[in-house]
Amino acid sequence: MDLFKVYKLWDIEPVKGLGTTLWDKDGKEYTDLYGGHAVISVGHCHPHYVKAVTEQLNRLGFYSNAVQNSLQKKLADKLGKACGYDDYSLFLCNSGAEANENAMKLASFQTGRAKVLAFGKAFHGRTSGAVAVTDNPKIQAPFNSTSNVERVPLNDIEATEKALATKEFAAVIIEGIQGVSGIHEPQDGFLVSLREICDRTGTVLILDEIQSGYGRTGQFFAHQHAGIRADIVTTAKGMANGFPIGGVLISPAFRAEYGMLGTTFGGNHLACAAAIAVLEIMESEHLVENAARIGEYFRNALCPGGNPMHPFKEYRGRGLMIGLEVKPGYENLRERLLLERRFFTGAAGANVIRLLPSLTITEETAAKFVGAIKELA
Ligand SMILES: Cc1ncc(COP(=O)(O)O)c(C=O)c1O
Repeated sequence: MDLFKVYKLWDIEPVKGLGTTLWDKDGKEYTDLYGGHAVISVGHCHPHYVKAVTEQLNRLGFYSNAVQNSLQKKLADKLGKACGYDDYSLFLCNSGAEANENAMKLASFQTGRAKVLAFGKAFHGRTSGAVAVTDNPKIQAPFNSTSNVERVPLNDIEATEKALATKEFAAVIIEGIQGVSGIHEPQDGFLVSLREICDRTGTVLILDEIQSGYGRTGQFFAHQHAGIRADIVTTAKGMANGFPIGGVLISPAFRAEYGMLGTTFGGNHLACAAAIAVLEIMESEHLVENAARIGEYFRNALCPGGNPMHPFKEYRGRGLMIGLEVKPGYENLRERLLLERRFFTGAAGANVIRLLPSLTITEETAAKFVGAIKELA
C-alpha cells in the first residue's frame, strides 16, 4: 500500500532528538526551532518525560472512559493550577480540531443557538466544524460549508458587535494569536471589548489556545496578556510534547450531563502520564518564564529598537510564537536555513518564517540562529 500523499515533505528523516537538537538518519545534526508545529514544549526526549511515559507504559497503557482514572484528575488539578483556571473543568480528547469541535458543540448545547462567529484568516483544524470556522476555502469540501458560520475581520470590533447583537450566535471562536495565518495578534483592547460583548449578548467566548497556549507566549495562555477570561479554552499541541491529546477547559457555568461528550481514546493513561510530565517539567524548569525571556532576546536581536533586522520586513508575535516576514527576494531564506545551516523553522505562506521552538530553548541556541540569519542575509 502507498501513502496518501497530502503532505509536501522535506527529504530529511529525523531519527533522534534531544532538547532542541535533532539528528537525521545519516547522523546530520539540526537545530529545531519549530518543534513540529509548536508541539515540542519541553524538548525532545526530556529524561523526566521519557521516564514517566515508559513507567506508565509498563503499568497500564490504556483503558476506556468507563472506569476510574485518577491520572485524569491529577492532570486536571495540575493544569488548573498552572493556568489559573482552577475553577473550570476539563474534558480530554485527542487533538486540537477535536477540542474545538467539542467546544463549539458545548456552546451550542448551552445556548440553544446554532451559529458560530469566526475571524478572517483563522485556522481551527480540519474536521467538520473546525474546518467550517477556518478561513480557507481550499481545505473545505462542499460537505463542510454551512450557513451556521459567519466571519468578520480580526480586530474589527464594530463588525463583531453588529453580528453578535443579533443574539443568533452560540459562540465566537478566536485564536489567542493566529498561527497558521502568519502570527497575527488580536489587540488586547479588542479582546477586552469582545469579552464584554459576549457577556451582553449571551455568546460563549471560545479561546483557541492550541498553538498560542501552554506557556509559549510568556503567559500560560496568550489571551491572559489582555487580562480576560474565556468561557471555554481549547488546548492541544504542546500539552503532551508529541503524545496526541487535546483539552477543553470549561467554565463552571456549564453543566455536564452523562453522554453529552465522549471519546474512546481521550484521556487515556499514557496521554495523561505524558501531559502530567510536561506540566511537571514546565514548573520545575520555569519554562513559561524562559519563554518570555528568550522571546525578549529574539525580539531585541532581530528587531532592535522596533526596527526589523535585514532581511525582515516585520517581526510579529509574543514570547516564543514568532513570525518573521521576509522582504521580497528572500522567500528562499527558510529553505536556506534548513539546507545550508540546518535550522528547522516553519512557514506561513511564501514570505513568513514561523519560530515555535521548545520552551526549553537557551539563549545560546537563539544566538546561533541570529548569527545564521546575519550570515545568510
Ligand atoms: C490554532 C489552531 N487550532 C486548531 C488546530 C488543529 O489542531 P490539530 O492539528 O491537533 O487538529 C491547529 C493546528 O495547527 C491550530 O494551530
